[in-house]
Amino acid sequence: MSKPDTPPAASPAASESASDAGKPRRSFLYRAMTIVVSAAVGLGPLLTGLAVFFDPLRKRGSASADDEGNWLRIANIDAVPDDGVPRQFPVIADQIDAWNRTPNQPIGLLYLRRAEGEANVEVFTAVCPHAGCNVGLVEKNEQLQYLCPCHNSAFDLTGEKIESGGTVHPSPRDMDKLEVDQEKLAETGEVWVDFKNFYPGKHERVEKK
Ligand code: FES
Repeated sequence: MSKPDTPPAASPAASESASDAGKPRRSFLYRAMTIVVSAAVGLGPLLTGLAVFFDPLRKRGSASADDEGNWLRIANIDAVPDDGVPRQFPVIADQIDAWNRTPNQPIGLLYLRRAEGEANVEVFTAVCPHAGCNVGLVEKNEQLQYLCPCHNSAFDLTGEKIESGGTVHPSPRDMDKLEVDQEKLAETGEVWVDFKNFYPGKHERVEKK
């Protein structure tokens, strides 16, 4: 009776060479995975950095804004006679974002006023605290007052809300007064104002940053 044919056992040399044949492929896969993981780890900080660099909202504002205020020269004292009548002035400043610096842009509107015979200047932003329209100056019953054209909030010349005549004035607070550098005003005759914007619709003043 003849023995069934059995395949010859592989020699040790043949096994070694089969295992060596897989090595270059495993080595290639290992290197590829290392590159992918390294790239993923490095990409996170890179993308975060790019987002910061390219986000213009992070750098929006006027050129002179800093932690000590946003002091801007608004006018000369000669332009604000001491007759108690408010004068309107635009706020002009350079606007900057991540890409551009645009010089001399109108960024706000102010009322400057000197009471009769007074040297000091009072400054109010023209933005209505109710919903952000610009208030105007009108004469009513032979009295000057600030009046908002949007929903009729009215204020006297010191910026206080007028609640007379049964009229409902929806502004939640008085007009927003801004700080004037009185020392510089006395020395140079220039009106420098710490320019700020505030959120409308709130009872307390909350500055927009
Ligand atoms: S925005 Fe001024 S009264 Fe409404």
